[in-house]
Amino acid sequence: MVEYNGKKLTIMACSKCNTSCKHCYISYKGNRTPDELMNLVMKFRYKYKIEINGAEILTDLGYIESYPLIGQDFIMTNGIEIYKKPEVLDFLISRGIKQIFMSFHFGIHDDISSVEVAMLESNIKNILKRNLKLKLYVTVTQKNYQYVHEIVEKARKYGAVSVRFTNFIKQGNAIDLSDNNILTKSQINDFLDSVSKERKLYDQDVMDIERCGSFGKGNSSKFNCYAINNNVILTPDNNIYPCLFLAKPGYEIGYYDGDTLNLYNEYNNDGNDCFVRDYCNYGDVKQLRKKLEVK
Ligand SMILES: C[S@@+](CC[C@H](N)C(=O)[O-])C[C@H]1O[C@@H](n2cnc3c(N)ncnc32)[C@H](O)[C@@H]1O
Repeated sequence: MVEYNGKKLTIMACSKCNTSCKHCYISYKGNRTPDELMNLVMKFRYKYKIEINGAEILTDLGYIESYPLIGQDFIMTNGIEIYKKPEVLDFLISRGIKQIFMSFHFGIHDDISSVEVAMLESNIKNILKRNLKLKLYVTVTQKNYQYVHEIVEKARKYGAVSVRFTNFIKQGNAIDLSDNNILTKSQINDFLDSVSKERKLYDQDVMDIERCGSFGKGNSSKFNCYAINNNVILTPDNNIYPCLFLAKPGYEIGYYDGDTLNLYNEYNNDGNDCFVRDYCNYGDVKQLRKKLEVK
């Protein structure tokens, strides 16, 4: 057993959500109370860079009380609670939130999300009216990967200052969806080329185009997967996992004992590529084992 000594700790506050997306990867169960979340944050805020997330964090506004303690000025949401009660945004602002990250899956939204586009559009008006920054999260499948330029243009027209693309990962509910959603390695390379081209069109402060590590290394010389070495996921049942996409019973790499974050072993992630993508999407068990084997 070794203490986790990496830089970042991602705390998943809850598994509860106000909807069920067909592609949702969330595979852990349980919910912390807001007080439990706050205690954890107080305990670890000087030791790790903490990020709070959840299946849908706005299902309990009590969670937001912990955000100012770590200076987390963003929330990630499907937008349903904001649509129901736009005043939620004023509460978030009062707790230091400056950026709203909202899922908007251009080209495939209605295929996978149960949040209507009209709701998102109404939210966007309310978000921008309050001078909050808007980042749109876009899941990428075979159906929309060729439309990077169109997606970024559309996001900009909506008033977003950032777009973050996430590779479709076959995990959770997504296991039941067609494998035709999964990008091949060559499609990923095309997609990443389009991202590089698109980035050249904008100053980063006008439009910041991010792509999740779940696409893997591609042609990038700078790629580094932080899983285990510098980021671990803590779920409400106090288990520790290597990555959000692998936060699922059976993939534990450690646990929180009420005092310390313990890892079962010193693991061997060289950070060279995304092992979760290779395991979930291409069935590469060997790669996963290699990264999780003891040093
Ligand atoms: C799990 S959600 C949690 C936050 C919030 N409830 C939301 O819907 O934005 C985080 C992001 O992961 C994306 N996502 C969920 N399942 C995915 C999967 N299987 N592959 C890729 N992205 C996925 C969602 O669309 C969303 O943008």
